Amino acid sequence: MRLGILGSGSGSNMQAILDAIGDGSLDARIALVLSDNPDAFILERAKKHGIETGIIDCGGFKTKFPDEVQAETALRLKQAGVELVCLAGFLRLVKRPLLDAFPNRILNIHPSLLPAYPGLESWKQALDAGEKEAGCTVHFVDEGMDTGPVILQESVPILSDDSAEVLHARIQVLEHRLYPAAIKKVGRAVL
Ligand code: GRF
Repeated sequence: MRLGILGSGSGSNMQAILDAIGDGSLDARIALVLSDNPDAFILERAKKHGIETGIIDCGGFKTKFPDEVQAETALRLKQAGVELVCLAGFLRLVKRPLLDAFPNRILNIHPSLLPAYPGLESWKQALDAGEKEAGCTVHFVDEGMDTGPVILQESVPILSDDSAEVLHARIQVLEHRLYPAAIKKVGRAVL
């Protein structure tokens, strides 16, 4: 299964996918890694593994992902033979041009028990709300923000002395296990 990864930041989830491929628990290959942030560490990680990388140039728009750029992104992914697209810390909203090119083939990972706490820094939102549990969700991407059918979801406890950083770290351990498992599940079901 050929994967394409879109990320804007550190790429620890991409690393977890690479590790799962490396230890034989996930039968896949990362064909292309694209980022809207030329300085993102995810690009360094990919290059270190000899993976093709590229920049998504949104022409100065801070958060917008223009339709024509989405169409071009879809084309690059197709040209690389990508079958499944994994958003891994990608900070722009994917819309029709990309969704139509990969129907039910775009996944996202989000650090909350969706539908609770979509958006940014969701572990902080859960902590501030006094929740007893947080977690992470891997879901299919649709036109909403962190909406779309859930593929896998798991919870972690929120402890009374948790700081936002400690809670985030606990969720990330879970993310790194859940994302490769979700990719495997989707691969078995649809590819
Ligand atoms: C993760 O917490 C993920 O859930 C969210 O963005 C973060 C990306 O982290 N969507 P990384 O770049 O994979 O380290």
